[in-house]
Amino acid sequence: MKITFTDTIQEQSQPWELLVRPVTAAELGQESASEKLDAADPLALPAVKEAMQERYRRGSFKASPEQTLSIPLLGLLPNSTAAFIGLGGGAVSADDLRRLGAAAAREVRSQKAASACLLLPTALYAGIGGIETGDAAAALAEGLVLGAYERSKTISEESKKVHAAELQCQLCGEPTEEQTAIWNEGFKRGVTAGEAVVWARDLVHLPGSVLTPEALAEEAEQLAADYDLDCEIIDEWTAQEQGMGGLLAVGKGSVHPPRMIVLHYEGDPDSEEKWGLVGKGITFDTGGYSLKRAPGMEEMIGDMGGAAAVLAAMRIIGSLKLKANVVAVIPSAENMISERAYKPGDVITMMNGLTVEIVNTDAEGRLVLADGMTTALKRGATKLVDVATLTGGVVGALGEVASGIMSNDETFRQQLEEAALRTGERVWPLPAFKEYRRQLDSDAADLKNGAGREGAASIAGMFISAFVGEKPWLHIDIAGTSWISRARGWEGKGATGVMARTLAELVRRG
Ligand code: BES
Ligand code: MN
Ligand code: ZN
Repeated sequence: MKITFTDTIQEQSQPWELLVRPVTAAELGQESASEKLDAADPLALPAVKEAMQERYRRGSFKASPEQTLSIPLLGLLPNSTAAFIGLGGGAVSADDLRRLGAAAAREVRSQKAASACLLLPTALYAGIGGIETGDAAAALAEGLVLGAYERSKTISEESKKVHAAELQCQLCGEPTEEQTAIWNEGFKRGVTAGEAVVWARDLVHLPGSVLTPEALAEEAEQLAADYDLDCEIIDEWTAQEQGMGGLLAVGKGSVHPPRMIVLHYEGDPDSEEKWGLVGKGITFDTGGYSLKRAPGMEEMIGDMGGAAAVLAAMRIIGSLKLKANVVAVIPSAENMISERAYKPGDVITMMNGLTVEIVNTDAEGRLVLADGMTTALKRGATKLVDVATLTGGVVGALGEVASGIMSNDETFRQQLEEAALRTGERVWPLPAFKEYRRQLDSDAADLKNGAGREGAASIAGMFISAFVGEKPWLHIDIAGTSWISRARGWEGKGATGVMARTLAELVRRG
């Protein structure tokens, strides 16, 4: 779907098949004042307004958030259909606008419209309580782009039918030049973020047979070329030289060798600060010799959701040219079984010199991430963030609703919580009690890589904290949120691309 914004109010002669009109309960209620509406607005037609009010009175259309009602215009306007989307009664938040955008895009799709216009009533752009106009525009644009997303299927040529649609967003009434300019900037920013997330979702959906660590490295190289970033790909030989024992152990069982992918962005040369963003890039997780059970194993193509989030964040950071320095690190491997694979009981030496007793080959994420953290520190990162589909434990605790977070720095954690609030991606803290760390004590090495199912999400976070030194650190476990079983708001079933926008927002706000 081609999604655009125009600052000029188009004449009624525009041949839009579908008009999408957000509507509040107040506009349909008894006491609704008849403010002057644009001629292009379907609600300006008495017949349409009466029909909508009647449905509102009856209770079949309450204008509740995301509720959609489409009615044919039967020649009353040059457009064939009007779709009304509820906005509820209260104040409109950024999340409401994302949901509105997503519902609008879905409606365009389900109506099979080739062209559509989203009309924004004055109340929606002329100063919404609580949000800046630019942020409102960005949120709406994100919703439109993300709501239009569909997982692409690998199907036979004949049955392939792409729904090509154009959706244009227009401001009703008489926006000032300033309002239009702010809206224009915000909308572009939102489209940029939305398109990066869509790209992340596509990466996550790629099967393991296609997206090997080498293929992921090529994606990163292409990204670097497109957004003017520096890119280093560390292959298995260089990884050996640099002592990346965690990455190599996990990758050993596969014919597809592991890669440590490093991207550099220098947007603030005068600053000493450098973000280290580290994303888990397991392109398929069988569990290794601590084999996973069969049901649902296909979803382990998504065990590189953290990598996708970090890469997509780099895409946002690079295209918006944010004022910050960032080193992004993606440790990537395929966790397989073979005569060369690592085994329970093995003791490995990590890149920072710590030794680890392997007790469970399915606790592979923390091993590759640990070397990723060391790599980021060696490249000068002053604050670290890791993002990973790390534990079933976090799914048990928080479900698909929120990502689990951990930190060694209270202020830093609050910054993340604030960024996540702005992007509408829920996070919730996991406890970091020292008792969890003690459960990782080993008889054979400095620490072991697992300690059973109980408290697993916290224990996994504590494992990673052993590799961050004294640097401020944030850990985000997206095992429950990166891949969801049913659609909601601006997220469809399957890959969500979660945390790409939050990471970029974190970096943007410094
Ligand atoms: N990739 C999995 C975690 C996961 C589970 C992601 C469900 C997405 C959905 C991870 O590598 C894993 O297997 N974790 C183990 C750790 C345990 C062996 C300590 C887990 O949580 O079961
Ligand atoms: Mn695993
Ligand atoms: Zn995994």
